[in-house]
Amino acid sequence: MKIVYRKMKKEDVAECTPIILTSEPWKTLKFTKKEVRTSLLDGIKNGKAIVAEADKKVVGFIVFYPKGAFPLGGYIKLLGVHENFRGVGIGKELMSRAEKLIFKRSKNSFLLVSSFNKHAQRFYCSLGYKKVGEIPDAIVKGYSELIMRKTLGPIKKDA
Ligand SMILES: CC(C)(COP(=O)(O)OP(=O)(O)OC[C@H]1O[C@@H](n2cnc3c(N)ncnc32)[C@H](O)[C@@H]1OP(=O)(O)O)[C@@H](O)C(=O)NCCC(=O)NCCS
Repeated sequence: MKIVYRKMKKEDVAECTPIILTSEPWKTLKFTKKEVRTSLLDGIKNGKAIVAEADKKVVGFIVFYPKGAFPLGGYIKLLGVHENFRGVGIGKELMSRAEKLIFKRSKNSFLLVSSFNKHAQRFYCSLGYKKVGEIPDAIVKGYSELIMRKTLGPIKKDA
């Protein structure tokens, strides 16, 4: 299966939205169509956004901010792969493309993952992310958002 990776365009938002709305963690987090649309459009406008395409259909996406959206580093805001296309390396490739741009500008890449989203936690750990904090009752009551960080080291060199 040939997967093509390219910049997300405004017209892709309609294809990315159902991937989010029909999947965990966003169902439990009660994301609305409007919130999803706003997040994707903001990524296109103010950050970076990449889609993965198979047969000219969007099957995955990543939205990230190489700098400025999170203290001390870049921030990966949204990552999703259509459920029929998971486990074949698309998520890993999207992360690698985002990290390439983040680590050009910064020593850290941060992301948030829901406390109940064990699958994604294992996925991020396999890519070198470590939990560095936790925001309780962050989006819905009873669940935290774990702050995960992948780092190239401290920002300042040793004296
Ligand atoms: C999390 C998600 C993006 C991963 O994407 P994916 O395309 O299925 O993952 P990949 O096929 O690229 O997996 C990449 C690597 O991670 C590993 N991995 C993936 N899921 C894993 C799991 N549950 N446990 C351990 N390792 C895992 C794979 O073994 C693979 O390693 P390898 O290259 O050494 O074989 C995808 O499952 C998804 O969209 N989930 C629902 C939405 C979601 O949770 N998004 C994140 C919100 S914070």
